[in-house]
Amino acid sequence: MPVAIVVGVQWGDEGKGKVVDFIAERSKLVVRFQGGNNAGHTVIVDGRKTALKLIPSGILHPDTRCLLASGVVLDPEGLLSELDGLAKLDIDVGPKRFGIAPEVILILPYHKAIDTERENRQSEGDCRIGTTGRGIGPAYEDAASRYGIRLADLYDTANLESLVRRNVRDKNVYLREVLGSKIQFDADELLQSLQTLGERLRPYLANVSLEVSRANESDEYVLFEGAQGCLLDISHGTYPFVTSSNTVAAYACVSAGLGPREVDMVIGICKAYSTRVGGGPFPTEDLSADGDRLREIGREFGTVTGRPRRCGWLDSMAVRRAVRLNGIDSLVVTKLDVLDTFPVIRIATGYKLDGRPLDDLPVTTTETEQIEVIYEELPGWQQDTSAVRSYEDLPKEAKSLLERIGVISGCTISGFSVGPDRSQTVITDERLLELQRSGRLP
Ligand code: IMP
Repeated sequence: MPVAIVVGVQWGDEGKGKVVDFIAERSKLVVRFQGGNNAGHTVIVDGRKTALKLIPSGILHPDTRCLLASGVVLDPEGLLSELDGLAKLDIDVGPKRFGIAPEVILILPYHKAIDTERENRQSEGDCRIGTTGRGIGPAYEDAASRYGIRLADLYDTANLESLVRRNVRDKNVYLREVLGSKIQFDADELLQSLQTLGERLRPYLANVSLEVSRANESDEYVLFEGAQGCLLDISHGTYPFVTSSNTVAAYACVSAGLGPREVDMVIGICKAYSTRVGGGPFPTEDLSADGDRLREIGREFGTVTGRPRRCGWLDSMAVRRAVRLNGIDSLVVTKLDVLDTFPVIRIATGYKLDGRPLDDLPVTTTETEQIEVIYEELPGWQQDTSAVRSYEDLPKEAKSLLERIGVISGCTISGFSVGPDRSQTVITDERLLELQRSGRLP
């Protein structure tokens, strides 16, 4: 029953796609379980770059089938343009390679308008979340309020018209009267475009829960790919500066319709430093020249929005929390090479509030912004690691950093990466290597 889940332990952009791509080779299924096209992965194989937003990174392996589970929110136009883009690169994205749970909630044009108009409202000032503007939050709101239109509804013509009319009517009132927006939608136009989109998406409909369960019963390998990161989780992140879904590993089971006892392994992806996009507390943010250097060297600009990411040091309080919340077995530390030129590397080892040490992140934004971070400093290695392909060949200071991350996070380190290419991800843990070679857990 080899079921593994890959999740980010920080605020997203940890390099999950690269690691999923690396270990997905022998997977029967790679399943995306939350979020929408707010995420972005760039996977580089033999120098060729592929940008993915919604489609799991497993799509680059010809024998892997990629699925979107019910907890995803789906922008039909965004997805179709992503599929077209991949087809142009000669990647097979036909219905044998890709499937979608009919239960997914659709992101429709009014969700995107509400997302951006809300963010633009002057009156919200500092409360601005800094969303990606992709309509993610408003679509999840509709799911919770039972107003949402699901992919399956596109094929229930008797019901679709009244659903669309009710939504367009209410969203127009909200946009106009509450948000003071001039943007308004036309129900007939939307209905027509949904019918066209529905026909293009029809071949992709898939019973995700059944497929996952059958693969699992036949001992085939299923890999779940998380988007965003643990601290953007709606229940456990730095609320309200979070995304609108649960990003933690347990949600893979909820979304795919899989019992929690079926999961064999949870792999956490941890960048060797920290980044965050958008608003909200970021205890280890470095606003000095070092933060700028991390951004430049690490090319820390959003894949989806192009926004510069806020940069800072590895936060072991956050990583420890993520290890606990996700039940992580091992961590892969990414972007180690970004630290190559730093003479001193900082790691946050603890927090204090009003002089008292804390066991965990505070719950409120006010308290989180007031914490004093305790750092330790480790010597850098000041040499190029981008050509390193084994743990043994790492400079001793880099090995010490990985060991230290292992100790302070209370977790095994199962690999590291020293660059964006597939060949620059080095897996050191036998269990993970075995998984990559054979698709089976030993
Ligand atoms: P939303 O998911 O677009 O609603 O944005 C909510 C918050 O999550 C914002 O701070 C975004 O910058 C952040 N966010 C969403 N997706 C990603 C991602 O893939 N990487 C990093 N931050 C993200």
